[in-house]
Amino acid sequence: MRKPIIAGNWKMHKTVAEGLAFMDAIKPEVSGTDVEVLVCAPFTLLPSLVEAAKGTNIKIGAQNMHYEDHGAFTGEVSADMLLDIGVTHVIIGHSERRQYFAETDETVNLKTRKALSKGLTPVVCCGESLEQREAGETKTVCKTQIVKAFENISLADASKVVVAYEPIWAIGTGKTSSSKDANDVIAYIREVLAALYSTEVSEEIRIQYGGSVKPANVEEIMNETDIDGALVGGASLEADSFVQLVNF
Ligand code: G3P
Repeated sequence: MRKPIIAGNWKMHKTVAEGLAFMDAIKPEVSGTDVEVLVCAPFTLLPSLVEAAKGTNIKIGAQNMHYEDHGAFTGEVSADMLLDIGVTHVIIGHSERRQYFAETDETVNLKTRKALSKGLTPVVCCGESLEQREAGETKTVCKTQIVKAFENISLADASKVVVAYEPIWAIGTGKTSSSKDANDVIAYIREVLAALYSTEVSEEIRIQYGGSVKPANVEEIMNETDIDGALVGGASLEADSFVQLVNF
């Protein structure tokens, strides 16, 4: 009953011309899918990609936003600015933002609440480091991140959030969590959401896996019962490979 969502996270890659060529290549190949298709690009590409996606089933997302509406925040972009150009989704709390840009569980919560209040769909990331995994802390870390991310989010809004479980040690390393392990953590995240809200709400929330997903492993990952999609970095950059991911 949950619609799968396959999302590309281009991180800091591509010029406008490269992004548009990608869109031209994927449009006819993903038009028949039942999967929700999302491309999350750098800010500079967003207006052009939104324009290119008009009349298609492809949605365009940002990779970050600020939680304030406006003000003296040099270099930042607000939810209203994203909405203004037709963006519908925004990744929040990616581990690279937590690691390199001082994103905290608190800012993740503020951004998630702001996105929801404006009608943007937040894709909220969580996941443990290698050290935490080896210390047996995977579930505790994810629980802490999820509980804080959903603080003060109403029952009605909770089901609009997309969660992405991305174990940090699996990002861009070629090391994928086994699909069983990923499913186990994602099922646990769903239990945490059930305790916060209700079983019914937790069954509606889509939870993606991210970390070295590629055409060769996407089907196995998507066959797991609790995994509702993939958030893909490297393998989302080439049109051919992204099309294969969508059409898993
Ligand atoms: O957000 C996607 C991500 O961090 C995973 O990256 O390159 O391992 O697919 P990658």
